Amino acid sequence: PKRALRVAAAMEILHTYSLIHDDLPCMDDDDTRRGKPTCHKEYDETTAVLAGDAMLTACFEVLADSETHADANVRVELVSLFAKSAGAAGMVGGQMIDMLSEQTGEDMDQGALARLQRKKTGSLFSACCEAAVLLNGSTREEHHRLASYARNLGLAFQMIDDVLDEVGDRETLGKTPGKDREADKATFASLLGVEGAKRQAEFLCTQAIEYLSIFGDRSHYLKLLARFVVARGH
Ligand code: IPE
Ligand code: MG
Ligand code: MG
Ligand code: MG
Repeated sequence: PKRALRVAAAMEILHTYSLIHDDLPCMDDDDTRRGKPTCHKEYDETTAVLAGDAMLTACFEVLADSETHADANVRVELVSLFAKSAGAAGMVGGQMIDMLSEQTGEDMDQGALARLQRKKTGSLFSACCEAAVLLNGSTREEHHRLASYARNLGLAFQMIDDVLDEVGDRETLGKTPGKDREADKATFASLLGVEGAKRQAEFLCTQAIEYLSIFGDRSHYLKLLARFVVARGH
């Protein structure tokens, strides 16, 4: 549990960096996050850029520490996994496509949008499950199922994020709703409609849970997490 917690903390540090930068005026230009002023509003843009930079590097500092795993090979694999999932082929790459689509105003079909979101959001979910495999080892079958769970969950998460941007209220959401429509972003809500995106997210959640069947009670929290992702209001 101690190793898993350190890896989870590293991911949350990475995730928080991505949100601080995502909220910057040159990106989504958001004033509120988790019910509080965004980092650049509370402080200033310089602080927000540097806070993000510092958190991204802190993530790797945590992973590389021998407290995270006694085996240096495992630590290197964790660092490599997180770097790939956060970098140009993963989250940052997805953010770039997201920003470009906003600037060019080009219409995206569902396939292109799913590819974007798989990078932007899905890759961090996948890295969490892949990290569990690195920490504990797994059979090929278990690995495949965990990876499939993460893929479906990541997509469902972003679908509901898009839905909440459209229908959520500021109080519950803790961030300003209606930003995607305002920026004319291609989202699952704009493409499938709110009800369509919700149905699709529920379907993906059910699929994600089915992949966990072989893990029995050990997957209790992962199942709860999948249900929470589609039922949440924030
Ligand atoms: C940002 O996606 C995803 C990240 C890379 C962190 P969004 O721009 O849709 O996230 P919110 O709606 O601001 O939380
Ligand atoms: Mg964004
Ligand atoms: Mg945003
Ligand atoms: Mg959003």
